[in-house]
Amino acid sequence: MTTSTEPVQGVGHAIRSRFPIFEHTTYANSCSQGALSVDVRQAYEAYLEGWDAHGAEWEHWVERAEAARAAFARLVAADPDEVAVTTSVSQGVSGLVSALPLERGRNRIVISEFEFPTVGQISHAQELRGAEVVHVRPEPDGRIPLERFSGAIDERTALVCCTAISYRTGYRLDVAEVARLAHERGALCLADSYQAAGAIPLDVRALGVDFLTAGTVKYLLASAGLAFMYVRRDLHERLLPTQTGWFADEDIFRMDISDYSPASTARRFDAGTPPVPNIYAGLAGMGLVESAGVPRIEAHVLGLIERLLTGLDALGATVATPRGAGDHGPLVCVASTEPHALVEALQAERIVTSSRDANLRISLHLYNVEEDVDRILDALARHRALLA
Ligand SMILES: Cc1ncc(COP(=O)(O)O)c(C=O)c1O
Repeated sequence: MTTSTEPVQGVGHAIRSRFPIFEHTTYANSCSQGALSVDVRQAYEAYLEGWDAHGAEWEHWVERAEAARAAFARLVAADPDEVAVTTSVSQGVSGLVSALPLERGRNRIVISEFEFPTVGQISHAQELRGAEVVHVRPEPDGRIPLERFSGAIDERTALVCCTAISYRTGYRLDVAEVARLAHERGALCLADSYQAAGAIPLDVRALGVDFLTAGTVKYLLASAGLAFMYVRRDLHERLLPTQTGWFADEDIFRMDISDYSPASTARRFDAGTPPVPNIYAGLAGMGLVESAGVPRIEAHVLGLIERLLTGLDALGATVATPRGAGDHGPLVCVASTEPHALVEALQAERIVTSSRDANLRISLHLYNVEEDVDRILDALARHRALLA
């Protein structure tokens, strides 16, 4: 077992020993929660030790929050002052929509049917402010053709919300094209990239999005309670969130309660006291992802997914995830007659997966290896009756 926090360059066997769960379990559920590494455990311990040794280490803790902002910025090829540090995607997106005027004539929010409840429910909450929400539905094959977005976005659209990789089906959307369609009609575009960050390369400028958000729970290998939101630089001064907090102020330490004067950067979408313990964990998790390298992680995982898909075909399973080149990332969904029973049957064999709708979800990450895929396929063969 590795116990040091030396940087690791590799994927697969080179990094696996940093994740103790693999000593006894085949973990294939990174779409719900990344596996715990020794690095993240040590980061929590460092937080506790610092607190114990020095009491309130506020200067250091605020510096750690800035380090996390910079780490996420590197991950999505943004500048740190274009990134807000939030406690959840919900917090960032709520702040964002609170800053949209939603004026008469431009009051629509277009959302894809694959949005996580976060984005879907926050969008519908804006109906109380006069918004209209338009849903973009997928085809039966699990793809959302761009024409569907094109048909839904018009000059009444204020914001288009799309999800880079669907948590429900594993479908990978062409976010750049959706952003282009939004801009053609004068709308802004938000990409919820929670299921993509750490798994596939993300470059906010190449994608052309106005906002991109993700948290650290899944492929960023850390804990609940930390997320980020990229906000395109030229929008900072134009957007005034009414859902805010004192860490979003232009001068936090002035502690002035006589007016609202938010930071001139994306920090205006921060809110209250930063989630310090989760920031320690987030830095460790993002550090592992960064040192392995996202392009290398993606290539490694796509190789494993190919092996998985070949095995699923041999079993005659129905794969719900679109499987063309570029149509999927690290998550494969397999139709099941009883998904909960199947998850439990696999759990009993120490294989961790999850389910959504009528599908089993198998998601792979940098620490998975071919033996994991083969174990999963062998188990599915034993439980073939639970596959649709
Ligand atoms: C695509 C996606 N968006 C958002 C979330 C979570 O959002 P929040 O940070 O608000 O809990 C998840 C998973 O938890 C997700 O899979």
